[in-house]
Amino acid sequence: MVGFPDVVYDLFMAPFEFFFLRRIRKKLIRSATGTVLEIGAGTGANLSYYQRDAVNSLTIIDLEISDKVKNFHFKTGFPVKFIEGTAEKLPFEDESFDTVVFTLVFCSVPDPVRGLQEVYRILKPNGKVYFIEHILPEKKLIDPVVHFITPAWKKIAAGCYLNRKTLDVLKECGFTHTTTRFLSDFFAGGVAEKIV
Ligand SMILES: C[S@@+](CC[C@H](N)C(=O)[O-])C[C@H]1O[C@@H](n2cnc3c(N)ncnc32)[C@H](O)[C@@H]1O
Repeated sequence: MVGFPDVVYDLFMAPFEFFFLRRIRKKLIRSATGTVLEIGAGTGANLSYYQRDAVNSLTIIDLEISDKVKNFHFKTGFPVKFIEGTAEKLPFEDESFDTVVFTLVFCSVPDPVRGLQEVYRILKPNGKVYFIEHILPEKKLIDPVVHFITPAWKKIAAGCYLNRKTLDVLKECGFTHTTTRFLSDFFAGGVAEKIV
């Protein structure tokens, strides 16, 4: 993964995975259907949850495809394609995917508006996005602290912003979404839909 050895990222994430992320990933990713695009798969934390009977094909795009993802042993029968590229310039035709998945990605995409406009473009009408992101909690007492530590955090965490308002950006880009917030509103996960 860009910025970290896979093992360091996985160790850092282990408590989050154990206490809540794994459960949410499982629930969301199992709902992915049809032609699926996953953006920023990282070390492949979602890959074991895709369902053989529901997914027709899986395309994974990331800045760099990690060895862990390349060597992942898919127990499923659908074709899997790996592409190195960016969310802000998705190399796909308009309306070519039924589902897009991203988890903990738009905190570090340099231009999140452009990235989510691209997601909207390549999704079919009524296509769905399954996502988990950490976001600005929007709490008066906490937010100034989050804004204060973000520049330092960005330097040590491969460009990750702690203060992104990704739910607002989803709306701005045309999605409606149903979201659950968790861990004191620092995280949000759910489904966004391209209604046309
Ligand atoms: C924090 S990791 C999350 C990995 C994984 N999705 C997870 O849930 O653990 C962020 C991922 O987003 C990818 N990423 C960052 N900026 C990106 C961009 N502009 N386009 C595509 N992927 C990007 C990184 O390469 C990395 O794989």
